[in-house]
Amino acid sequence: MKPYREIGHKIIWLEEVDSTNNYAKNLAEKGEEEGIVVVARKQTCGRGREDRNWISPEGGLYLSFILRPVFPVKELTPITLLSAVAVLEAVEDITSLKCQLKWPNDLLLHGKKVCGILTESKVVGETVVYVVVGIGVNVNNSIEELNAGLQYPAVSLKEKLGYDIEISILLKEIIRNLNKYYPLTLSKGWSFIVKKWKEKLYQVDKELREPIIHLQDFLSLENEEGELA
Ligand code: BTN
Repeated sequence: MKPYREIGHKIIWLEEVDSTNNYAKNLAEKGEEEGIVVVARKQTCGRGREDRNWISPEGGLYLSFILRPVFPVKELTPITLLSAVAVLEAVEDITSLKCQLKWPNDLLLHGKKVCGILTESKVVGETVVYVVVGIGVNVNNSIEELNAGLQYPAVSLKEKLGYDIEISILLKEIIRNLNKYYPLTLSKGWSFIVKKWKEKLYQVDKELREPIIHLQDFLSLENEEGELA
């Protein structure tokens, strides 16, 4: 296994940025190493999947980190699943809230979106050059500012809890979980994270069909390597 560099060994804090994913991708293009985390107090041009905006006022958590994994392109999808599990467990551990996951990258609270993940990568041939995982969590945001312009109902942790959450504590917990699960999956395979992720899946009957199709390739790859639990 390639030596892995701890996620968060260096954290870049920004007051404001267009997008932490853009910033991290620029760093990765310049050769910055694995494990660097970029965090911004707010984003002026936060990006979501499928060219959507990610409304990013102060009060939310916006972070991106760089990975340089040595594994097949197929295994990029589970990095998003791993990140979603890391955020879910962080939220559940520091609040009394119970969350669910929605394929492929949403974290839901009572059916409303509280976190989104945007994974972007540079791949040359079959080689993954870098991966940037961007995580946006609605922490202390007001519901009015979140729902303006979004196509899905959103919610914040504060809205559900009735009080503010310390963003740095949530960040620390997410990073702790990433550092627990990422090296484990590199050494032992992805099956346990896929299992954890499935256990938390929202509306299993409805949502499982698509993930199963997407994960089929990936799971058969693990079978070949004999690592599926
Ligand atoms: C989605 O659900 O569509 C994904 C949203 C991802 C938002 C995060 S916020 C931090 C990082 N920077 C971005 O511009 N996007 C991601």
